[in-house]
Order: sequence, then C-alpha cells, then structure tokens
Amino acid sequence: MDELNSIIKIGVVTSVKGRSVELKVDTTKNVSHLLFKGELIKNVSVGSYVKIAKGFSHLVGKIEGEFITEDKGSDFKSYTSQQDKVKRILQISLVGFLESGVFKQGIKELPLIDNEAYLLTQGEFNLVHKFVQDGEDTFVLGNLAQEKGKEIELGIDRLLASHIGIFGNTGSGKSYTMAKFYHEIINKYKGETKFLENARFILIDFNGEYTIPKPVFGVRDDVIIEEEFKKVYRLSTGKGGSILKYPVAPSVLKDAQFWSLILHCTEKTQAPFVARTLKNEFIESNIRSNDGFKRLISVTLKSILTKVEHNQERNLAFTFLEELARFNLDSKIDGYRALFSDYQKNLQFVPKDKCYLYYNTKSTEPDFLKQVITDKTKALTPNIEGLSEIHIIRLKIIFNFYHEVQKGFANKEHIGPVMGRLDERISDLEKVITVDLNHKDDTLMSIVSLKDVNMQMRKILPMIICKQVYEDKKHRFEKHKYLNIIIDEAHNILSYNSERENESWKDHRLETFEEIIKEGRKFGVFLTIASQRPSDISSTIISQLHNYFLHRLINNKDIEAVEKTISYLDKVSFDSLPILPQGSCILAGLAAQLPIVIEVGKIADRYKPFNETMCLTSNWKD
Ligand SMILES: Nc1ncnc2c1ncn2[C@@H]1O[C@H](COP(=O)(O)OP(=O)(O)OP(=O)(O)O)[C@@H](O)[C@H]1O
Ligand SMILES: [Mg+2]
Repeated sequence: MDELNSIIKIGVVTSVKGRSVELKVDTTKNVSHLLFKGELIKNVSVGSYVKIAKGFSHLVGKIEGEFITEDKGSDFKSYTSQQDKVKRILQISLVGFLESGVFKQGIKELPLIDNEAYLLTQGEFNLVHKFVQDGEDTFVLGNLAQEKGKEIELGIDRLLASHIGIFGNTGSGKSYTMAKFYHEIINKYKGETKFLENARFILIDFNGEYTIPKPVFGVRDDVIIEEEFKKVYRLSTGKGGSILKYPVAPSVLKDAQFWSLILHCTEKTQAPFVARTLKNEFIESNIRSNDGFKRLISVTLKSILTKVEHNQERNLAFTFLEELARFNLDSKIDGYRALFSDYQKNLQFVPKDKCYLYYNTKSTEPDFLKQVITDKTKALTPNIEGLSEIHIIRLKIIFNFYHEVQKGFANKEHIGPVMGRLDERISDLEKVITVDLNHKDDTLMSIVSLKDVNMQMRKILPMIICKQVYEDKKHRFEKHKYLNIIIDEAHNILSYNSERENESWKDHRLETFEEIIKEGRKFGVFLTIASQRPSDISSTIISQLHNYFLHRLINNKDIEAVEKTISYLDKVSFDSLPILPQGSCILAGLAAQLPIVIEVGKIADRYKPFNETMCLTSNWKD
C-alpha cells in the first residue's frame, strides 16, 4: 500500500479558500502517465479527481485548472535541475468525501495546508461514479466520456420520479437521449403486469419524430417501444382530419376557459361572453331536441326582426340564418333553405321606421310575429340528433351572440371577432379531438404527434391534453400510479416571451405547467421537457427540475439560464457546454451525485426516433 501511495501521491495542499483548494504538484509527478507495477496510470489533468488525505478522512476534489509559478527568490544553486524551479499548481474544487467504502457528495470538513493529495485508484474512481445503491433498480444510459469503458448506471426511481430537463442546441442529441432512457426503462419492465397497469407515459411530439408518418399495413411503428404498448395519435388539422382523434372527457368542453383558449378570447369582454353562453340555461335546455331547436331559431328571429335597434344591420337576420346553416346544418333541417329564400325574396328592411316589412305587414304589427316568424319556423323539421358536442357549443355561441347583441347585453363590435374565428376553430377542433364518455386509459404510452396541426392548435392542444391528464390523475389520486408527461421541443409551449399572444393566455399556459411542476410530484405526475432554448422557458419551471441533461449549448443566454439554476455545476462542466460533441451531455441532479459528462449509448435502429440529420451532398451526387 505504501508503495502504491508513494506512486500515486501527487502533491500537497498549499492553500484553502472555502471549497477551492490549491495543490502543489511534486516535481517528479509532472508527467502525463505514471508507471506502477508495469501498468500505466493516467496522471491528473483538468476535469479529473484527486483525493486529499486529512487524518482518516479522504476528501475528493475535482481539478478545475492548473498553472505554474516560478520560484524566483531562492538560491538557484540549490536546485539540481531547472525543472525543479517551476511549481505546478492545481486548482481544485472539493466535491465530496469517501467514507467506509462509499462516496458521499458534500463537504464535511476542509483540508489543511500540507495535507497530501493522491490520484484516485480505479476502485475509488468507480465509487465516485457509482450513483446507485445496492439493490436499486438501474439501467445503463451510456459511458463516461472521460473514461470510455466506464458504463454509467443510473437509478430508475431517482430519474423517473423526478422532473427532467434536457437542453441543447438543435442537432445536439436531445431527442435521442430522451428516447434512449425511456426506451431502456420501458423495455426493462414491459413484461411486468403491474408496470402495464400502474405506469403511464404521454409524449407530446411537435415534429412527428416519434412515429412513422403514416400507418402502413405491415410496417411496424416501434419508436421507443413496440407498437403493442402504445397508442399513436397522429393529429392533423389538414383535409380529412386525424385518423385517430385524441379523446377528451365531456367535462373539458364544459370548461369556459377551454373555449376562451380555443376561440382566443380577450379577457375583458369575449371570455365572459363565452362563459355566459355555457351557463345559459334556456339555450342548454332547448338545443338538444328538435323542438327546442326550432324554438331557439324562432326566438332569435323574433328578437332580430321585431326589436330593431337604431343602428341594426339590415342583413342581420340573413347573417344569422347563414351562420347557423354552415357545417351542412341546413341539410339537417327540412324547410330551412325554403325559409331562407322566402325571407330573401319578401323581407325588406325599412330604416326610417326601424322595422322589417313582409309584403304589407310591418314587424311592429302583432300579425307579423305569428305569420312571418312563428308559423314559418313551425314548418321546419330539424333532425339534429347526433350532432357532436363540439358542434352543439358552436350553435350555443351563435344563439347567444344574437340574443345578447339584440338585448344590448353585449356589444357586437366587441364579440364580433369571436364569431369570425368560430367556424375555423370549430372545424380544427373537430378534426383533432373527440368527446369520449367512458374513456379507458389502458395504454402504457400515448404519443401525440402535432406535426400536421396548424399553428393555433399546436399551442393549445398540448396544454389541453396535459391539463386533462394531470387533473384526471390529481382527482383520482391513486397512489401507486405514475404518469410521466414528456414534451419534446417544449419551447413551443413553455416559452416566456411570445409577442403574438395576449397576457392572460400566456399566464394560463404557464400556470398549467407551473402547477404540474410544483404540485405534480404529490400526485405522481412528472414532467420531462426537452428544449433548444432554456433561456426562453419560464424560470419557475427550469428551477424546479430535478435532473438536467445538458447537451451542447452555444448561446450565452442559454448557458446563463442553466447556470442560474444549477449553481452546483462546476466550472469545468460549464466551460465544456459549448464544445460537447453530438450525443454527449452533462448529467446533473438527483440521479448523479456529481455532474458528469456522459456519452449516451446507442438505441437499436427500430426504436430510434426519426431525427437523422440530413446529409446534403450525398443527395446531390448521382
Ligand atoms: N448518443 C447518440 N448516438 C448516436 N447518434 C446520436 C446520438 N445522439 C444524437 N445522435 C444523432 O444526432 C442527430 C441529432 O440528434 P437529435 O435529433 O436527438 O437532436 P436534437 O437535439 O433533438 O435536435 P432538435 O433540437 O433539432 O430536435 C440524429 O441524427 C441522431 O441520430
Ligand atoms: Mg429533437
């Protein structure tokens, strides 16, 4: 042992300033490799570790820098060689200590001047990089970058029961890393019935990287895990909509806030209008039956035609009838088109009397109501059963709009823009979600691809989906069930700065995710986010993450954002952020006692996400 110690002793402590310690390296050890019993031992260099012996304690430090000083003052003759004049100094930051065969993070005591410093033996090096305790379930994520053959095992509990952030520039390997660890973990447990019962994963995929573009018979879709274990929603707002729509609970559609988001309502006037609409009992009690529906048409026509406002548009009745007729509703009501052309032909607006005229009857006369409205609407035969719940809400909004505007409860100019957006948003919504009364959440993993979804829905859908799964989990409160919400390209929805949206919507969006990140742990809900721009994401969210995988980051703001929240990251790791190669990342957080650089292992081709970097020139040559 003494022999080994004399070989691996590299110097003594010369200064201690808090966590920072300086070592003077023995002049005989100023070489890159040391020889011990025929084996080469790598000498210390920046980024590696040393052990400082203080009595019986062994403190471990990471080398952050080195420099040399020249001994100028002493008598030159006392040196046998010029080399001896030069002092090599190592700057070290203490990271932990070795105690009864285990490495522990943190500082219990500080070294003293002249304490001796040693290289770590292979055994000690392994201890420092052993992040799991005996008996813990683990998986291998990859190798230590510094030491190629050293596999890094991580504790599954400490990783998955935590909020995870994966950051790095485009192409640095975030999606790959995420796919790798979810693949390894799910693959490990997929044979266990209890796992299939108690674990749920939902992945929001903005770019369609985690699924084959189109389901093709005979082509398997095994990205991350075999297709038997997952449900893939390839949502699309394009022509034809989605093949499989995302199921939402009926309660979601009763939520005024949901509709405010979908219809992009302003906080002061439009959102309250939507809320009132959903609460309007008269409309609700009539809209689902054919008779009730007729009644609503008749009541609305009555208020438009008989309570004429001084600034009323002459075409208001027609606008109403046309709006109602869209989405093919006119074909569901016998007599509707006839009524429309009858009105078009015979109904005239008389501005000076503020009334309408049908042949000779003015809408101010009592006969008008019976002959022109009641009798004619009675003749309609609607057959509106089977309308989707989403469509019913559209109709409610239309009826309530005309009702409120005619009654003077709402201002047409204020609410008008909502009506302008209504059809488009309803049609988008119908293409991507479906109301599911008895939705059974029986799939291990759901992948929601938003590649073919338009801009507006891209922002709204992830929030609706995440909110729903979170609330559902929260209310059921089944202690043994876990849910991991995984969002790749999370800056799409978690960015703090977005000029195109209004404040209330931004607040709502961030609140939803901030709640998940702050409270989710108690209900077994954990968030994994991957993003190119940590500086864009709300700092509340970034600071609550438990584990960070940091890939190459170049922008200073991004590095600062990470630096602010992961203050324990050492200088060497920070400095390496802009130069990490593709597929390497720094892991910091609960799952690793010390921040380390990992080379993430390969994923078998069939489980790999579709994110190959294109090779330009190979496609240019014949
Ligand atoms: N550990 C790895 N081993 C092998 N290949 C890798 C590894 N990590 C990443 N790659 C490859 O690097 C390329 C880019 O990776 P990836 O798509 O994961 O980057 P990204 O950071 O998610 O980029 P973006 O921000 O654009 O989504 C892919 O072709 C991927 O196969
Ligand atoms: Mg990616």
